[in-house]
Amino acid sequence: MTAAVGGPVAVLVGPPGAGKSTVGALVGAALNRRFADTDEFVEATAGKSIPEIFFDDGEAHFRKLEAGAVATALESFDGVLALGGGAILSDQTRALLHGHVVVYLAIDFADAIKRVGLGAGRPLLAMNPRAALKHLMDQRRPLYEEVATVTVDTSGRTPDQVAAAVVTELRSQ
Ligand code: S3P
Repeated sequence: MTAAVGGPVAVLVGPPGAGKSTVGALVGAALNRRFADTDEFVEATAGKSIPEIFFDDGEAHFRKLEAGAVATALESFDGVLALGGGAILSDQTRALLHGHVVVYLAIDFADAIKRVGLGAGRPLLAMNPRAALKHLMDQRRPLYEEVATVTVDTSGRTPDQVAAAVVTELRSQ
């Protein structure tokens, strides 16, 4: 298993609903590593929740905090790291991901919308979750594919099955 020196053992990317946090925690437990989500780092820095950041300060400010949190975590966090679904929109973040083990948790739209539901806690999905999720998945798919070193399909699989598939992939790296 290889990872950039001092960096995460694996970085999980994918759209909202792909199961990055659930699967990431399971993969971390299987590898005996900590798990963290960059959304938590952003919230800790801002001292407020993600919906509050979007509402009070706007998406551009959130993206700035997110890019900073990702850059720091890629250098200093040595566990399993999940990125917020939109983190790969940043050119800087995509560049920094080079050399890392990046796992794209792919999901089809039908499964993603089932998991996301009404989009609670996800400001970008607050208005019309179906249309918004469809749009962002279509827009971002090429970016997830660009940064991924491994792709694991999550559609129709349980978190345990996905985590086992991720661990197998990581061990074969
Ligand atoms: C976002 C996804 C969220 C969070 C924020 C923005 C996005 O993370 O970072 O609400 O742009 O897709 P999850 O992917 O964990 O839902």
